[in-house]
Amino acid sequence: MRISVIGCGYLGAVHAACMAQLGHEVVGVDVDASKVALLAEGKAPFFEPGLPELLTEAMGSGRLEFGTDMSAVAGAQVHFICVGTPQKRGENAADLRFVDAALEALLPYVAPGDVVVGKSTVPVGTAEKLAERLAEVQPEATLVWNPEFLREGFAVQDTLHPDRLVYGIQAGTEGARAVRLLDEVYATPLSEGTPQVVTDYATAQLVKVAANSFLATKISFINAMAELCEATGADVTQLADAIGHDARIGRRFLNAGLGFGGGCLPKDIRAFMARAGELGVDQALSFLREVDSINMRRRVRMVDLAREVCDGSIVGRKVAVLGAAFKPNSDDVRDSPALSVAAQMGLQGARVVVTDPEAIANAEAKWPDLTYAPTAEQAAAGADVVVLATEWDQYRDLDPVAFGEVVAARRIVDGRNVLDPGKWRAAGWTYRALGRP
Ligand code: UDX
Repeated sequence: MRISVIGCGYLGAVHAACMAQLGHEVVGVDVDASKVALLAEGKAPFFEPGLPELLTEAMGSGRLEFGTDMSAVAGAQVHFICVGTPQKRGENAADLRFVDAALEALLPYVAPGDVVVGKSTVPVGTAEKLAERLAEVQPEATLVWNPEFLREGFAVQDTLHPDRLVYGIQAGTEGARAVRLLDEVYATPLSEGTPQVVTDYATAQLVKVAANSFLATKISFINAMAELCEATGADVTQLADAIGHDARIGRRFLNAGLGFGGGCLPKDIRAFMARAGELGVDQALSFLREVDSINMRRRVRMVDLAREVCDGSIVGRKVAVLGAAFKPNSDDVRDSPALSVAAQMGLQGARVVVTDPEAIANAEAKWPDLTYAPTAEQAAAGADVVVLATEWDQYRDLDPVAFGEVVAARRIVDGRNVLDPGKWRAAGWTYRALGRP
């Protein structure tokens, strides 16, 4: 099938490459010429495991092309809208500018019978508005809402083998036809038994934000328990293991630490609260405010811990921050807890050096005032305290004895609860962690 993908960021670039991998002919369009130039050479504009290989393969097959000219989408039967919906400046609500612009730019090329598929995360009610606009210009085309659940770092795997496929449609025969077309697009994952939920627009849009709210709540729940553990001398990692054995609770997403960040969870729960307010049901989501504040408190606590291990002051102290990305296997620094902690310590007078295997360029662009080093050893040279903020494998695997040679003082704060305290203490380190004695 001929497919177009509008917006080639973390979501769209991966979606385009994966659709080509599934055998479709794909054209990806983005307004960012530099991003398109890289993609057109088969290069990924961001770090995502497996994506460069997939791009090279798909470009080689001749089934994938990228451009900035929207007219290239003419002839595609299915058009995926994959643009970003960032948080509005100074507000909780989502900024829908890019979604609206993508649809407007696409409209002149939508032919009768085409299906426009929304994948961006939007406030409930957006699909209905976009469908109205589509009907004004091309009444014989259909809009389907098909939220995306991919995780950065596992984006290729999640797109090729999704947990579930959700289609939000407007009732009626055209809807049935659109479902058939999308089933053709996703024939391979469907044949692997991927569960499918066909529902209305409102439910489909809510599924995405409900899922992200649940995940954020799970993380903040365990981080709230970490606060209790800190007050009582208990160990949150053992607590999580123990409650996680209950299959109704489950161990996944119960890793206590510095909390969640990234381009999705923080802004999605805020946009969800804002939308609930508009709908007059803000009380239903007031708990998400607490989820958000528990999450933000962890960042403050992390700075406090660094200060505590430095005998009460970080002023003038050298702090090595291991990690800049919001999570490992990503170069994404949007709302990164690691950088937020690094910046706070910098503002409080510490001499901060940040390192990350992949995210330094992005971090430097956003936080030019911080100092960066290419490796953990270089960042930690002469450090008074080391702060592990993003749990990349290379930081989990650090040898406390050898690493102890480069620092000025053996003090470490484990913001992700991934180090073995016994091993680090045995090597002479003062080890502190969030939610652990
Ligand atoms: C998330 C959702 O998982 C995905 O389904 C959705 O499509 C987009 O948002 P992503 O932002 O890529 O994906 O990251 P995710 O793996 O969910 O992690 C989010 C944040 O939570 C990270 O900062 C991570 O470090 C943190 N986290 C995760 C924890 O603090 N503890 C955990 O147990 C799990």
